Amino acid sequence: MDIEVVGKFLSTLPEDDDHPYRTGPWRPQTSEWDADDLTAVEGRIPDDLDGVYLRNTENPLHPSLKTYHPFDGDGMVHVVGFRDGKAFYRNRFIRTDGFAAENEAGGPLWPGLAEPVQLAKRDDGWGARTRMKDASSTDVIVHRGVALTSFYQCGDLYRVDPLSGNTLGKETWNGYFPSDWGVSAHPKVDGKTGELLFFNYSKQAPYMHYGVVDERNELAHYVDVPLPGPRLPHDMAFTENYVILNDFPLFWDPQLLEHDVHLPRFYPDMPSRFAVLPRRGGSDRIRWFEADPTFVLHFVNAYEDGDEIVLDGFFEGAPQPLDTGGNKWDKLFRFLALDRLQARLHRWRFNLVTGAVHEEQLSESITEFGVMNPDYTSGDYRYAYAATGKPGWFLFDGLVKHDLRTGGEEHFRFSDGVYGSEAAMAPRPGATGEDDGYLITLTTDMNADASYCLIFDAARVGDGPLCKLALPERISSGTHATWASGSQLRRWRDADSAAGAIGL
Ligand SMILES: [Fe+2]
Repeated sequence: MDIEVVGKFLSTLPEDDDHPYRTGPWRPQTSEWDADDLTAVEGRIPDDLDGVYLRNTENPLHPSLKTYHPFDGDGMVHVVGFRDGKAFYRNRFIRTDGFAAENEAGGPLWPGLAEPVQLAKRDDGWGARTRMKDASSTDVIVHRGVALTSFYQCGDLYRVDPLSGNTLGKETWNGYFPSDWGVSAHPKVDGKTGELLFFNYSKQAPYMHYGVVDERNELAHYVDVPLPGPRLPHDMAFTENYVILNDFPLFWDPQLLEHDVHLPRFYPDMPSRFAVLPRRGGSDRIRWFEADPTFVLHFVNAYEDGDEIVLDGFFEGAPQPLDTGGNKWDKLFRFLALDRLQARLHRWRFNLVTGAVHEEQLSESITEFGVMNPDYTSGDYRYAYAATGKPGWFLFDGLVKHDLRTGGEEHFRFSDGVYGSEAAMAPRPGATGEDDGYLITLTTDMNADASYCLIFDAARVGDGPLCKLALPERISSGTHATWASGSQLRRWRDADSAAGAIGL
């Protein structure tokens, strides 16, 4: 392995930090690395694995003003590229405006999710809640060959080089980026049309918008999605012809909001509402469907089946888990543990002719952060790959392959003390089936004080990884990730090797 530290940042976190999401598996990094020819400590890299796995996640450089929430930290992108049986790694902080300002100040300027907005040291800021730091730390996707990072509370989309991890600047959509509201995490790319579909939300009426950016990067559609009040949507879904947005009964308490207090509450007597809208339809074409009350953090896929829209996602049986005691961290972070939320794979069917809604639980297993073969997105599909959670913690302790046709499941559990990231499915070039490809994740291994990139055969996840690659240092545990095949990346296509593509 050929490794080099290319960046080093000064952290102002306390040396005796006791925060459970800034220490242990969530210990942030301060170094940026370039590593080439990663060493396979087990197995070998498949020759036909071709493209890049990208992972974003909070990696705080500074403490919060009072109480750090794991969604507050600065964004860091990890890149693992594979070509010709070799792999390289890069990690970079996302150079957001907030990151620059706090580094300049030498400490935090904006309050985090678990802090009152009144603590802000500056009266500007970002997010639906306002006066937060847009850390662009939530999600990462690739559109038109460029990685875009995003922030769950709405903010800018930062353009990131998918090979180097370097920040290229903010997305502008030729001057039509909705900077007044920003864009939420989890915009979607339709690989078949080249379009990017997105939503945003705020405390101002109409409370939500939906938009489409076309394959030329032009904002082609932007419409109001009127809601009854401020909501906290996190994800969306799309089919060939429709987009599905949501209004879940978990939102800031309206009475407290009048006093600028942001306390999310679950209202179990209210239904979940799903908006089905033609992808280029106006607000007058929104159809609402009501279903059992819940909150869904992430959807896996949606598709059309005759008169019905089929939507798969993770139904939370307990969106507001009871306070069962413990220390202050247990109380504060019970909202992050998949077992406390009772998150399970679920299917909704919305009939566009009769208006009927049918819903069913697809699995008994507690899972979330589901991914699938990207080539099957928005169509009928069979396999979803999801994470299992360490009870009581925001840590992934294993992978599950859900077979949605048979209800079968294949589990792979990491060793105790080893935690994964959201996986990404990389279809094999010339694949002959939906699970013909590889499943990739990054681990934080507390036993070895190291991190690894694991590559699984997507058809046999339960067999364990085909290959285990050593990263330069132990990275923070993390979440959202994506896969971009080499054929999606112009510099990759034009070069005859990975080294050529990344300019070595
Ligand atoms: Fe998310």
